[in-house]
Amino acid sequence: MPNVVAVGLQWGDEGKGKIIDILSEFADVVVRYQGGANAGHTIVVGDEKIVLHLMPSGILHENTCCVIGNGVVLDPATLDAEIRGLKAGGHMLDDGRLLISARSHLIMPYHKKLDGLRENEKKQKIGTTGRGIGPAYEDRASRMGIRVIDFLDKRVFREKVRDNLKLKNFIIQRYYKDEPFRLRDVINEYDAYRDLLKRYVGDNVQFLHKSMEEGKSLLFEGAQGAYLDVDHGTYPFVTSSNTLAGAAACGAGVGPGAIDYVQGVCKAYTTRVGEGPFPTELAGAEGELMRDKGGEYGATTGRPRRCGWFDAVILRRSVIMNGVKAIALMKLDVLDAFERIDVCVRYRIGRKVYADPPLGMKDLSVCEPVYESMDGWREPIGNAASAEDLPVNAKRYIKRLEELIGVPVGIISTGPRRDSTFILQNPFQR
Ligand code: GDP
Ligand code: IMO
Ligand code: MG
Repeated sequence: MPNVVAVGLQWGDEGKGKIIDILSEFADVVVRYQGGANAGHTIVVGDEKIVLHLMPSGILHENTCCVIGNGVVLDPATLDAEIRGLKAGGHMLDDGRLLISARSHLIMPYHKKLDGLRENEKKQKIGTTGRGIGPAYEDRASRMGIRVIDFLDKRVFREKVRDNLKLKNFIIQRYYKDEPFRLRDVINEYDAYRDLLKRYVGDNVQFLHKSMEEGKSLLFEGAQGAYLDVDHGTYPFVTSSNTLAGAAACGAGVGPGAIDYVQGVCKAYTTRVGEGPFPTELAGAEGELMRDKGGEYGATTGRPRRCGWFDAVILRRSVIMNGVKAIALMKLDVLDAFERIDVCVRYRIGRKVYADPPLGMKDLSVCEPVYESMDGWREPIGNAASAEDLPVNAKRYIKRLEELIGVPVGIISTGPRRDSTFILQNPFQR
């Protein structure tokens, strides 16, 4: 059975949660492999809307196991709230369906504090989600991090927190002139989560390999998007992990050969939340219309998302970087409202034309999009019965995007609900 990675191709919030939920029907195991509670993945089932930050988006399917991989930075407070919420809603009734990697790193209260203090101080803010993601990954890289396995051992945990607090409190007090953390408070707060986590902790590597040996299918759930990748994104306006499909292997603990198919996920337009360059951003009324029609407010922080036209320049590169086989084109219905729809096909700086994004951030922030204009369809498509039923101009738009980005659109989404989805190419049934 094939193993599939579903990955965001823009700046996050492409609709990954919806696609993972839909594809989970065909997968045995869903694995989150990077990021943390900075993610906000929305699933709409009937009248119920569920936003997940850490829990893999396969959790609503009773026969699917969910794994939080070693590449994730885990905030126990968020996980606790999420598990409680799911159980109260009648979901996740079987605890055996969740496995948390013993090697994932914990987000600690000082990570969140430092994230906020640093943002407040910066002249050029990144606009982080404030979830402590950057500081937690820094500790992982500098080998000061605290892993779930360390947390389970009370003594080891206490020692590690004490060591960490020496340096963190020094920075918090002396540099930021803020209140230090007390060891006792941190330990007491986290002790309350130990029993909860203990139930789910295990060896993700062993579990995933056994699953593959048994012929089960894995679905790897990306968080954020290609342009928030710490290496390949719009650095420094990025998150602190590798978000690309290639990171799935490391963050889950499988070999790269285990990945059979990469399902790209992108919106029919572009959004970004937080700071940083965004060539096709629409500052005026058209951007507001997009935000309004698309409900473009952050699922994690509630911030209004910046909106703009589809950018085929960044998409082409995303496809290559991720090894995308086909696209899930999301939120096509949001464009119902537009008489004319623009697509960015190249960039220009002065007389110089770019077919690929310029390498430097300075260039990317001043480049002008070169647009191709297409006629809109000006009718609601949310109730279309099939892809064939879509208005001619919507079909033309899809075809043109396929030509521009070089891979087919395999899934079309015309609304938040499961039934507003046309699967033309199912990655699990090829
Ligand atoms: P993710 O982070 O990639 O999972 O995306 P988010 O959940 O942050 O944002 C996507 C938003 O768009 C959510 O509110 C979804 O319910 C919604 N959504 C997903 N697909 C569609 C669609 O095809 N049309 C519309 N109108 N909304 C959609
Ligand atoms: P999902 O998985 C959109 C953005 C933040 C900020 C930058 C760094 O829902 O698509 P961080 O808190 O990670 O240090 O913030 O990355 N960001 C996201 N934007 N969707 C997300 O996740 C994001 N996760 C982080 O807004 O610009
Ligand atoms: Mg999101």
